Amino acid sequence: MSSDIDELRRELDIVDVVSDYIHLERAGTNFKANCPFHPDRTPSFYVSPSRQIFKCFGCGVGGDAIKFVSLYENISYVEAAKQLAKRYGIRLRIKEDTGEKGKTHQLLEKVAEFYHSKLKENREALNYLKGRGIEGSTVRKFMLGFAPPSGELVELLKKENALEAYERTGNITRVDEDKFRDLFRNRLVIPIRDQRGRFVGFGGRLLKGEGPKYINSPESEVFKKRELLFGLYEGLNYLRDLKSAILVEGYFDVISLHQEGFRNTVATLGTSFGKEHAQELSRFVERVYLLFDGDEAGRKAMRLSVPHLLKEGVEVFPVYLPEGFDPHDFVLRNGKQALRGLIENAKNIFELLKMRIKEGKDSEKAVKDFIYYVSFMKDKIKAYTLISELSKLTKIPVDVLSARMYKVPESPQVEEGGKLSFTEKVFLKGLLELKPQIDLDELNLSIRAREYARSILNEEYYPVPEEVINLKTRDIESEFWASVDKLKIDIPEEELSSSVGVRESVREFIRKHRGGIKPSALRRWRGGA
Ligand code: UTP
Ligand code: MN
Repeated sequence: MSSDIDELRRELDIVDVVSDYIHLERAGTNFKANCPFHPDRTPSFYVSPSRQIFKCFGCGVGGDAIKFVSLYENISYVEAAKQLAKRYGIRLRIKEDTGEKGKTHQLLEKVAEFYHSKLKENREALNYLKGRGIEGSTVRKFMLGFAPPSGELVELLKKENALEAYERTGNITRVDEDKFRDLFRNRLVIPIRDQRGRFVGFGGRLLKGEGPKYINSPESEVFKKRELLFGLYEGLNYLRDLKSAILVEGYFDVISLHQEGFRNTVATLGTSFGKEHAQELSRFVERVYLLFDGDEAGRKAMRLSVPHLLKEGVEVFPVYLPEGFDPHDFVLRNGKQALRGLIENAKNIFELLKMRIKEGKDSEKAVKDFIYYVSFMKDKIKAYTLISELSKLTKIPVDVLSARMYKVPESPQVEEGGKLSFTEKVFLKGLLELKPQIDLDELNLSIRAREYARSILNEEYYPVPEEVINLKTRDIESEFWASVDKLKIDIPEEELSSSVGVRESVREFIRKHRGGIKPSALRRWRGGA
């Protein structure tokens, strides 16, 4: 095996390999650059074409082209060798990754190819894509596919002797002795690759009929939604080059924005953007443009994502779309130049808030938001500078502003300590989604749950944990009120009767409607809120 790697090394040109990642400048017979492995003001990183090595005289790292890639990508030497071989079309006879996970990736790739081949046979799916302005080259780039009824896939997997292995990914389920159901059957399929290009799962969009609009592969050893970003693999070089990413909400936003030349666009997989996502992005970029839908959910998503990014030292640029538009619609309707304009004119979140304060547009809220966001900044000196600027602007003394800074729970005790009960999770999820009027003092909540509840009611939404945000519920209205019941809440009778006009306790109301409270009944009860 090692002789194969030697051969690969001879085939590679280190200048070429390194230039794919950083900008090299000629320095005599060598090349130099600012070192990508440590903060470097003067170029102390050298590449020698004659010796085919790199060396940094600042931090001391050095080695061959493969070593460079392994350091840069944070992967093993062998893994880096494989990537390079693939990239340059050089054959490398290394034992295939025969580990359990490696096999799963290969299997998922086969299934993706199968779905992709089936797309051509499905008029309806093709028309759908055409209707949404998705071009053939984009279909190929993202390997979009279509999942036919389960039978064909099962046949293929049987032939590969991989039915059981594939079942373990959760993408098909056994419904009977010899009967399987493909989770994605009759859906348009979007394969999902991890940062290194390995196939890890699928998203599936409904084209017609009943069911959720999107479904995703279930969480597994290879499919970890908390870490994955759709579009990251496809856009990695652009993220690095531009040192920025555009964060959107949907699969189709990523696909169409890549097509229109915004190739540094990424999205989460139907989950909220969290700490791991921010950490992943901060490895490649300095700035993130938040391009969320112009609706309530989009604004909430913004509030939830920004702290994670600021904590990782990433600069945040919110881009506001007109109400009711998502990025995909916006480009379709107004063209890419319009979107380009929005992005280029986007302001850093703090600049934006300062502008609002100056203009006196809802400036009280803007001041609150400013202090809230500053609290999360990784660079405390920058945070202090911002607070001083805010102080000048508002004439409020710095210490008064600082005292109102949000206490970011950093200690493991606060973040991990005290598990939320299931009922509390449902309750918090309901608070988040339904925004009911509720007095927390009437509740039997753990300290942790109370802190989250307060943050939601203050519309701060932070640090509401992902186990709550991503909690799966069937009918959040009725489940929420059932959780309220369990938490022994007692809303004062007057409040109830004033909105409903009927004298019955909350408990009775819930009992009467157990098994499903109609939204209309609730709305009436909450006074048409
Ligand atoms: P959107 O409905 O905005 O997605 O949901 P989209 O991709 O823009 O949808 P269309 O195709 O243009 O109508 C945003 C994301 O939330 C997740 C998906 O990841 C989706 O891309 N989602 C949405 C689900 O996981 N399940 C759903 O039922 C809906
Ligand atoms: Mn959308």
